[in-house]
Amino acid sequence: DDRAAVLGLESSCDETAAAILRADGTILAEAVLSQLAEHAPYGGVVPEIAARAHLDALPQLVGQVMRQAGLGYADLAGVAATSGPGLIGGLIVGATLGKGIALAHDLPFVAVNHLEAHALTATLPGLAAGPVRFPYLLLLLSGGHCQCVEVAGVGRYRRLGTTLDDAVGEAFDKAAKLLGLPWPGGPALERLAASGDPARIPLPRPLLGRPGCDFSWSGLKTAVAHALARLPGATEQDRADLAAGFQAAVAAVLADRARHALALVPAASALVVAGGVAANAAVRAALAGAAAAAGLPLVAPPIRLCTDNAVMVAWAGVQRLRRGLPDELGHAPRPRWPL
Ligand code: KG4
Ligand code: ZN
Repeated sequence: DDRAAVLGLESSCDETAAAILRADGTILAEAVLSQLAEHAPYGGVVPEIAARAHLDALPQLVGQVMRQAGLGYADLAGVAATSGPGLIGGLIVGATLGKGIALAHDLPFVAVNHLEAHALTATLPGLAAGPVRFPYLLLLLSGGHCQCVEVAGVGRYRRLGTTLDDAVGEAFDKAAKLLGLPWPGGPALERLAASGDPARIPLPRPLLGRPGCDFSWSGLKTAVAHALARLPGATEQDRADLAAGFQAAVAAVLADRARHALALVPAASALVVAGGVAANAAVRAALAGAAAAAGLPLVAPPIRLCTDNAVMVAWAGVQRLRRGLPDELGHAPRPRWPL
């Protein structure tokens, strides 16, 4: 039934989110609470703080989206909660609340893989770019993940490449920290880079031109540290040039890896990006170039659906329920859960 509504819950990292989605893809209600302020003093996500913050916020957020959608729990067709991969404390909070609601109202429960939820977002009807057709190539570029995945259908994923060390968002955050910028550093680094000369300070482009679709960022981060060490008393312009050089290196490597991956998926209908790093304009421009060279569009869902959210979790839940694949209430959250 296209009008059946599914409640989605997301609590795998530092965003607490709830959403209600109709099976036809209509978003009835959505809410996201970021924990940035709680974690900022520590310069990164503190798992224990994250779990407690989810526990504080999620039940109220669920009440809020239910009221917004004008639904009672008995009107729902199912409950979907992110059950991995991610920080185990937060996963337990979301999955347990989801199971509790399912148990109390006799609803099917779906344990959603967070990576699958990111992967399927581009198939949501109603996106400006239009729902993307299978198969497509997904680049998941976030603070926790850096992967190249062929998405051939629901439940049909082939990982073509992953990072050998840091996630690309993590690389942005570490470079930003070296440049004296506040966490999370990606957006601040992009702003600083806007007034910089990307060509002034040469930086390595790890794995560029090498076969395959894997990524490696730690050498680039180290090169930023070394460049800074050679610039004692670095001026604002020095720092901007370094930020611009870093960003250009990342964008060039991502485009190179995307070209290799697209060659492995000749039937791909599009290059799709997801994850917070998809917000970066230089990264988008480089990926648009790689896609265009293969005669394909670059599709980026709106940023609020690219970063962690519960709409994508509900959508993955809808797909799984359509196929009659709910999970047992005994399903255990999994901190590691490859696609
Ligand atoms: O997907 P996301 O919101 O959360 C997860 O990691 O799951 O991604 C956050 C990451 C952070 O590392 C952040 O620094 C990075 O995305 N990011 C950016 C930009 N906006 C966010 N990196 C580069 N440029 C940006 N404009
Ligand atoms: Zn994510």
